[in-house]
Amino acid sequence: MSTSTQSHNRVPGAPADDMAEGSLPAPEAATVHVTVLPAATLDLLAPAHGGRYIDGTLGGGGHTALLLARSAPDGRALGIDADPAALERVRQRMPEEVTSGRLVLRQGNFAEMAGLARAAGFDPVDGIVLDLGLSSDQLADRARGFSFAADAPLDMRFDFTRGQSAAELVNTLDEGELADLLYRYGEERRSRAIARRIVERRRSAPIARTGELAQLVQSVVHGRPGGIHPATRTFQALRIAVNDELASLEAALPAAVALLRPGGRLAVISFHSLEDRIVKRFFQAEERGCVCPPELPACVCGRSPTLRVLTRHPVTAEAVELAANPRARSAKLRVAERLAGEPAPPDG
Ligand SMILES: C[S@@+](CC[C@H](N)C(=O)[O-])C[C@H]1O[C@@H](n2cnc3c(N)ncnc32)[C@H](O)[C@@H]1O
Repeated sequence: MSTSTQSHNRVPGAPADDMAEGSLPAPEAATVHVTVLPAATLDLLAPAHGGRYIDGTLGGGGHTALLLARSAPDGRALGIDADPAALERVRQRMPEEVTSGRLVLRQGNFAEMAGLARAAGFDPVDGIVLDLGLSSDQLADRARGFSFAADAPLDMRFDFTRGQSAAELVNTLDEGELADLLYRYGEERRSRAIARRIVERRRSAPIARTGELAQLVQSVVHGRPGGIHPATRTFQALRIAVNDELASLEAALPAAVALLRPGGRLAVISFHSLEDRIVKRFFQAEERGCVCPPELPACVCGRSPTLRVLTRHPVTAEAVELAANPRARSAKLRVAERLAGEPAPPDG
């Protein structure tokens, strides 16, 4: 899962002065995010000149930059991110693409990509990429409260302009809800003990800071030498809940299929087994088409396949990439191509 990686790698060309050992980059500085599975994603999306693409998880702009380079001189991309800071960073990093109109930037949740794309004139498109989770830029920005490595307000919202922060969740959910959340999204085996300790602690004062939560978790979960930090799973679970990440993905997949032209491709990179399962099952269902119960002698639903899966098994990073970018270790890429069939109506 992306949260577990606290490495702040740099992209080629980023200035070196913000990377002194232990330092954090200035907000809005060059991205420190290293794009995951760049070659495989690009090869499978197969961008061509004149193509139209959507990057639903703009982040540091890595996949977008590659899509624009491969579709030069006239390919265009719509970059969407929930995080206003990501959009601002890319606006500064790629000013020519923005002013020339090759790159259009929109703030929003990728679950709403249908409306964003149509309003921006990106319908239909030739390719869509979703590279899920959080970026190293967000992890490195202390003020965002994603990292247990730096004490900061416990926030974790991708879109920090709206919604409930992690502190609000931690201080308002009841013990059972907290335990379920930590178990489901973090696969945290000590979820009940952590939830109990959280509820005990907040009786005296609300839990407001990452450092406080990390310490509290450490008092319950004892890490193993060389293992992950004891708070990793708790922070991952809270981030997924705060940003409603699984529901956003569930909403985005059919929206993406509806935006693709026949032959267009959808690439999804996930970092968590629950995300990968959602993508895998969605691709399988769209490839099958018919949703009639197997006992029916003939199809009555009338649904035809809308996708052809191009990655029978998910693509994962090879040793060279893993050595350069540890964040890639849990990345799984699945890609499918749009067929001519009509996508299912929203209610299935
Ligand atoms: C892993 S980063 C993407 C990195 C990017 N592919 C690159 O190579 O630079 C994921 C980004 O997606 C954004 N994000 C995550 N979930 C989102 C959602 N539901 N809607 C919009 N943006 C989202 C995060 O704010 C983050 O900036």
